[in-house]
Amino acid sequence: MDKHNKRVVLVTGATGGLGTAMCKKLYDEGFHVVGNYYTKAKADAWLEQMKKDGYNVELFHGDVSDFDSTAAMIKKIETDIGPIDTLVNNAGITRDMRLINMGKDDWNAVINTNLNSVFNCTRNVLQGMIDRKFGRIINISSVNGQRGQFGQTNYSAAKAGMHGFTKSLAMEVAKLGITVNTISPGYIATDMVMAVPEKVLTQIVAQVPMGRLGGTEEVAHLVSFLASDKSSFITGSNYSINGGQHVY
Ligand code: CAA
Repeated sequence: MDKHNKRVVLVTGATGGLGTAMCKKLYDEGFHVVGNYYTKAKADAWLEQMKKDGYNVELFHGDVSDFDSTAAMIKKIETDIGPIDTLVNNAGITRDMRLINMGKDDWNAVINTNLNSVFNCTRNVLQGMIDRKFGRIINISSVNGQRGQFGQTNYSAAKAGMHGFTKSLAMEVAKLGITVNTISPGYIATDMVMAVPEKVLTQIVAQVPMGRLGGTEEVAHLVSFLASDKSSFITGSNYSINGGQHVY
């Protein structure tokens, strides 16, 4: 909680398409919203636009793929704002290519940013959540962690890894007022998805029963529900939100 008794939420990768929508929705729901960013040039413009739009959110720099950078960022947030009650592990990148063309750096960058970041962030907020007997941890995975995707061995491995993390941690902290859940979005209209070659994306969307990309706000609604007190009996779960692209 911050000094006004508002719950503090940290959204990693806040300046991306999904992160922005989550920050807005969580702000509307009464959270003290703290975003994490990595790229300074993008962050300044983002923050200015958010303030213009009436969203009084804060932005902190940190490299979530690096444990020490993450630890320092979280310490600063908790000193300046207050203890983090809710963590949304949203930061992620793609380096799409067939494995046969993939270098060690392309593999490591995606595993470090998309999966090791989940450890780095969660490990640094967990003791506080345990002490206060409340926490919400929401991991943003992907439909491609559930079903695989040509050209995404690195990304799919990282996103699938999140599920194991979620289920195991959920068991460890279930009695402590802390819930841990995963959301697996399908193809959402973000810069990341729009970077997929147009021809390929058209083929993918044609396989989505709803026949369209998802909206960022459609994912943000689910995040805000899982972040709320109302979701208190839900833990270790994975929520698919993909327009029917992958049903099982
Ligand atoms: N299935 C089967 N074969 C495929 C294929 C597919 N889906 N996609 C490409 N190929 C084949 C091509 O036909 C071609 O074969 P031939 O040489 O026999 O003609 C070969 O693969 C070409 O491969 P290249 O390595 O030369 O690479 P490319 O330049 O064509 O690009 C790619 C391959 C990088 C995978 C590109 O197709 C791509 O970007 N695909 C999209 C991957 C994707 O969906 N990413 C999601 C990003 S968004 C996201 O990740 C958010 C989320 O959570 C959903």
